[in-house]
Amino acid sequence: MILQVSHVKKSFLEEPVIRDATFRLEEREKAGLVGNNGAGKSTLFKIISGELSADGGDIAFKKDITTGYLAQHGDLISRRTLFHEVLSVRQDIWDLEARMEALEQDMKTAEGTRRSS
Ligand SMILES: Nc1ncnc2c1ncn2[C@@H]1O[C@H](COP(=O)(O)OP(=O)(O)O)[C@@H](O)[C@H]1O
Ligand SMILES: [Mg+2]
Repeated sequence: MILQVSHVKKSFLEEPVIRDATFRLEEREKAGLVGNNGAGKSTLFKIISGELSADGGDIAFKKDITTGYLAQHGDLISRRTLFHEVLSVRQDIWDLEARMEALEQDMKTAEGTRRSS
């Protein structure tokens, strides 16, 4: 389990938006949340990300997990593609990949003799 949402509820001005949201995500599982405009999708994501508090229920994450939330109306850095924006949640991995690429380039042009240990 990487995420467990249990009996989450949320109202805005007495108007229930989320009544009893319960689901879990397993490792390597991909899920989509589909619903009509105004159904409460963004509200649920805000509750999961901690931006909003729920009126009841529980959110539990697997220990040491990293989460990211790309909001519907966010400020994107225009130089980045959406793919890079999503990946920026794990900038450390992105940096490693860039470093590997640079090393690969260096290896192509590397000169010298093999050293015996
Ligand atoms: N901060 C808020 N205050 C009052 N009502 C809100 C607020 N945020 C969302 N709502 C209402 O809650 C409902 C769900 O909104 P939202 O989660 O944005 O829906 P979705 O993302 O599924 O389109 C809508 O009726 C919306 O008007
Ligand atoms: Mg939304």
